[in-house]
Amino acid sequence: MKRSCFVLIVTLGLLVTLPAWAEDNSVSEGLAATPPMGWNTWNKFHCNVSDELVRAMTDALVKSGMKDAGYQYVVIDDCWQVSRDQTGQIVVDPNRFPSGMKPLADYVHSVGLKFGIYSDAGAKTCAGRPGGLGHEYQDALTYASWGVDYLKYDWCHTTTQDARASYANIRAALDATGRPIVLSICEWGKAKPWLWGKEVGGNLWRTTDDIQDRWGGKEKWPHGGCCSNGMTAILDEQVGLESYAGPGHWNDPDMLEVGNGGMSTTEYRAHFSLWAVLAAPLIAGNDLRSMTSEIRDILTNKEVIAIDQDPLGREGRRVWKQGDLEVWNKEIQDGSRAVVLFNRGSSAEQVTVAWEQIGYPGHLAAVVRDLWTHKDLGKFVGKFSSPVESHAVLMLRISP
Ligand code: GLA
Repeated sequence: MKRSCFVLIVTLGLLVTLPAWAEDNSVSEGLAATPPMGWNTWNKFHCNVSDELVRAMTDALVKSGMKDAGYQYVVIDDCWQVSRDQTGQIVVDPNRFPSGMKPLADYVHSVGLKFGIYSDAGAKTCAGRPGGLGHEYQDALTYASWGVDYLKYDWCHTTTQDARASYANIRAALDATGRPIVLSICEWGKAKPWLWGKEVGGNLWRTTDDIQDRWGGKEKWPHGGCCSNGMTAILDEQVGLESYAGPGHWNDPDMLEVGNGGMSTTEYRAHFSLWAVLAAPLIAGNDLRSMTSEIRDILTNKEVIAIDQDPLGREGRRVWKQGDLEVWNKEIQDGSRAVVLFNRGSSAEQVTVAWEQIGYPGHLAAVVRDLWTHKDLGKFVGKFSSPVESHAVLMLRISP
């Protein structure tokens, strides 16, 4: 090879690799290829977290069949931390976690699950515990040394911080540890994280304020702040965000309330079906030790979970709405469709999905399968129609 040619190749090679020296994102590449599934302490237990509780839930996740159904991350939300020491090191609550975090993470790993934790981009967490601001690289190293696989990073007490820059900073800190860690951006949709979450290496981002364990409604909190959201209010806020989701980066309409007592079994089935059609992260938040078999059957319905976890990674969308009746559609990798017929009304109604609404020609014959009764309902041409009970769904897989 001529010398000039060799010099050119080396120079081009350097130019191509230069950005990789500046920031190595390869560590977190390939994470969350499908929406993360797991269990988190917050929705049921709030600040009442402990080593004992997390071990018990880890065991229950295995025993209930949820691990086999795909649930993977056991995440401790707010309130595990109490202060920082003189070196700035985060201090774990010694009463609630007497042996520290590493043995707990080891326990979660020993049963084949992954371990997640929570902090905040601001000076304090939402419950007033020490936040991560100014300690990002130090905390990331601590988390990596404990064996953390997933970090939920909240947005309280951030005053004038820039959201995009703050989350890019914690992603860089996590990657610098060399440990692949899923980054869950919990910024509640204020700065439209769907527009930049993927670029800063976020694997999922909350799109709304916190979910509450009730059917619907959006109300100001008693102290005036916005807002307390029922499940269907959260659902409505997902409309229009579909195109921002895909493998490695998901819209997060918040964690599941299934089994927490504020909705009926029928309503929880609707909640779970709609989250699956949204390709939402499926993070359960109920007491797994004492759930009824109906609740367990909802959380472990493998046909519904397969819709959520479909490798194509398309988020479903609402394709038809008239009053209280809706049709939601999600494209599946094998060319089939997952369809939810949804009735928000107070009495049973007939709901129809027409093939044109889901991208099929009208003459097509397709097998319709009910994903809750696990039965094929037959072959239909052009449309499928069925009564849907109040606050219920019919969740279908339609295969040509
Ligand atoms: C915020 C988040 C919740 C939860 C709490 C913890 O409200 O949105 O999901 O993490 O903080 O304090």
